[in-house]
Amino acid sequence: MLNTILVTGGAGYIGSHTTLCLLEKGYEVVVIDNLANASKESLKRVEKLTGKKLTFFEVDLLHETDIHKVLSCHPNIRQVIHFAGLKAVGESTDDPLRYYHNNLTGTLHLLRALESTNIRQMVFSSSATVYGYPTTIPVNEHAPIQPTNPYGHTKAMIEQIILDTIAAYNWGVVILRYFNPVGAHASGEIGEDPAYPNNLLPYITQVAAGVREKVTIFGDDYPTPDGSGVRDYIHVVDLAHAHIAALGALDKQPTGAQLYNVGTGKGYSVKEVLEATQAVVDRPIPVEVGPRRAGDVAELTSDPSRAHAALGWNAKHDLKEMVRSAWHWQSKNPHGYRKQ
Ligand code: NAD
Ligand code: UFG
Repeated sequence: MLNTILVTGGAGYIGSHTTLCLLEKGYEVVVIDNLANASKESLKRVEKLTGKKLTFFEVDLLHETDIHKVLSCHPNIRQVIHFAGLKAVGESTDDPLRYYHNNLTGTLHLLRALESTNIRQMVFSSSATVYGYPTTIPVNEHAPIQPTNPYGHTKAMIEQIILDTIAAYNWGVVILRYFNPVGAHASGEIGEDPAYPNNLLPYITQVAAGVREKVTIFGDDYPTPDGSGVRDYIHVVDLAHAHIAALGALDKQPTGAQLYNVGTGKGYSVKEVLEATQAVVDRPIPVEVGPRRAGDVAELTSDPSRAHAALGWNAKHDLKEMVRSAWHWQSKNPHGYRKQ
């Protein structure tokens, strides 16, 4: 019998894809989410796609007693995947106190509630943003931690809180540093549903769908082969599978810290992503070149070899599949999870 997994932030983009994957693998899943950046519709669709039921609680991690209530209703929970958090870099610079409060206080409440109920195994969503301006490319897990924005600082601080928790209470935690998650489930039923797209691929697909006017390339004078920024895009379904592998790694090594980059190791420029999308959609995508976006790095790609070796995990989807699935989701759901 597989464990029951608590998934915080499970109604969100990566959380919903991972929840689907967990149900397919036979896990029981309890999701908590305050729906700050998600819709319950994602979870309804996950249930429909898998033909399985999950348990959902609309709970805010800022309300610690509510977390206790969930845990006391579900004494079989042994492992947690902690996605819940705010994630917009620009917003975190404009309103840092909201970000520190939500991401740090929410995580502290979760950790305290888990410790008090003897649940000591967790997978945590960290981000490549903790590397800031990298000194060597590709980046491996030994690279210095030097975030450049409040969101990145919350991730670095939570990593430290987790390391201290492991040392003091003998927890086991897998920290996954995601590179650039994109794409959607092959069904086109679940996907990324931003109110306003800050990231490249959702922006491009919204332009292709006619929701927005044109794509702006944020700078084409970087020291990269075509002058536009290079990133390591990872298909969200591959990322979901990395979480399943991480749970397996916790079974094998129940205590201590494990830290992995999750990317493909391959970089694509903004112009290459635009070309790949243009090849998939059947209409012109208007594009202009604009100035660089403050805080962007020229290039950020991962060295994912540690995850390959220790988790036996490899990304399977290429850029074409990432773009195709993102477009499939966008075309099927022009208004995201909203009906209109
Ligand atoms: P998302 O916003 O779609 O999902 C996060 C979920 O957490 C949302 O459903 C939101 O409603 C919920 N949430 C936020 N604060 C909460 C709180 N206080 N209590 C309960 N629920 C709360 O984002 P995502 O893209 O699925 O990201 C998941 C995790 O991965 C986040 O921690 C994010 O920082 C991290 N991450 C994302 C990316 C990316 O580019 N998408 C990259 C690196 C790391
Ligand atoms: N870009 C454009 N035009 C746009 C949007 C983005 O040219 O309209 C460019 C950016 O300048 C960058 C690339 O596309 O070169 C990717 O930008 P994204 O905003 O999609 O992603 P980032 O690499 O800036 O950041 C993302 C997440 C962060 C996360 C980081 C981890 O937004 O939360 O990946 O590497 F921390």
